[in-house]
Amino acid sequence: RTKIAQIFADQEQFGGKEVTVCGWARTIRDMKSFGFVELNDGSCFKNLQVVLDANVLDNYKEIAGQNVGAALIVTGTVVLTPQAKQPLEVKAATVAVEGASTPDYPLQKKRHSVEYLRTIQHLRPRTNLFSAAFRVRSVAAHAIHCFFQDRGFVYAQTPIITASDCEGAGEMFQVTTLDLNDLPRTEDGQVDYSKDFFGKKANLTVSGQLNAENFALAFGNVYTFGPTFRAENSNTQRHAAEFWMIEPEMAFADLNDYMDTAEAMIKYIINTVMEKCPDEMNFFSSFVDKGLKERLEHVASSDFGRVTYTEAVELLRQNNDKFDYKVEWGCDLQTEHERYLTEQVFKRPVFVTDYPKEIKAFYMRLNDDGKTVAAADCLVPGIGEIIGGSQREERLDLLEGRIKELGMNPEDYWWYCDLRRYGSCRHAGFGLGFERMVMYLTGISNIRDVELHPRTVGNADF
Ligand code: 4AD
Ligand code: MG
Repeated sequence: RTKIAQIFADQEQFGGKEVTVCGWARTIRDMKSFGFVELNDGSCFKNLQVVLDANVLDNYKEIAGQNVGAALIVTGTVVLTPQAKQPLEVKAATVAVEGASTPDYPLQKKRHSVEYLRTIQHLRPRTNLFSAAFRVRSVAAHAIHCFFQDRGFVYAQTPIITASDCEGAGEMFQVTTLDLNDLPRTEDGQVDYSKDFFGKKANLTVSGQLNAENFALAFGNVYTFGPTFRAENSNTQRHAAEFWMIEPEMAFADLNDYMDTAEAMIKYIINTVMEKCPDEMNFFSSFVDKGLKERLEHVASSDFGRVTYTEAVELLRQNNDKFDYKVEWGCDLQTEHERYLTEQVFKRPVFVTDYPKEIKAFYMRLNDDGKTVAAADCLVPGIGEIIGGSQREERLDLLEGRIKELGMNPEDYWWYCDLRRYGSCRHAGFGLGFERMVMYLTGISNIRDVELHPRTVGNADF
């Protein structure tokens, strides 16, 4: 059995040779004495043109009469066709039907809207768009592992179920075995979570960071790459309830070390995908987002911008007439502001640093001004925030003070504070939203189209 990708990769070697390929018919044309099948086996973006000759195949009628979507096994000779539209084709000697398809196959040869394709998520991986998107997603995931492994980072698998709320936003999905119709109560009427499976209230993690810090203060440099969950009621093109995050954490590192690493990582991912997915990137650049490739090449070869929150707010305030939500020092930046900064002002990715402490999480390191924290978000054109990260508060008194100030329960974070008791050190890390990275790489504008089966508000189908 040969994969179609191998044949295209080694054309000279395969020319004149017999191969057997298995795949699904994307199109079938019957010209009576001969016919054509465009076969796709998923190994690459390209289809293989199979020539059916009625004089050669005794089951010509059966094959030419198949419906689009049929699973076929083709044995035949590879013929190089340098003059034709496609560089090669296979002249079939035998074709067997592994599984027929019915005439109502939903993916006929025409352009379907992404909205329609979301209703047939079980079949959409067979379209050009998703074939390209999910191969890029796979290559990008591998590139991320290579980037960190090559630099000696240890891959840490942090737990999915947790009792702490890393981001402190209360946007967690609860995990419980209690009977919701008959909850055990304490004397004062509160739900008695000591009766629950874990003996306390537990949730799906919103971030592996706090656990990654435990690893980093032993291994030095670590990273996580796993699913995270947010019960955010944000029905937007860039929010999902379940998404994957890459969270590196580095000991003896500060905010600049984080930004340098993140910038190198994004450039590495872009370069790897460009190199390994040329057909997919050509497709995106022509049909999804014109000029995507040139823009990404430019990003990979130029410096990202860096601007403080205070400077960014000044720039935005001068343009407040353009925004629905007016900017003031102290406000959280909305997507419209993030996109304005990166699309209109910097025209490239930009790190916004040193946000007011009030709008950031408890673990971020307080700056000397007492008002801002050593945080940085990386914003990119077309999407806005793609990375959030910070230097962590390594001073026990300041961390404990912040935990109390925010009304969090210090008992839940005793182990996190312990890190500051036993050999505390400067450390920093960040979280890259993997789906947003894939959106950035492909030009696909909705997060629902870069996840196999997206989980969003009101939607957990498939
Ligand atoms: O900015 P966030 O909330 O940062 C953290 O969770 C930190 N604990 C990370 C760290 O420092 N280790 O999330 C990080 C990134 C965002 O920049 C965004 O790309 C992505 O995760 N993200 C989402 N992606 C899709 N859907 C959502 N609902 C997302 N929420 C965050
Ligand atoms: Mg963030």
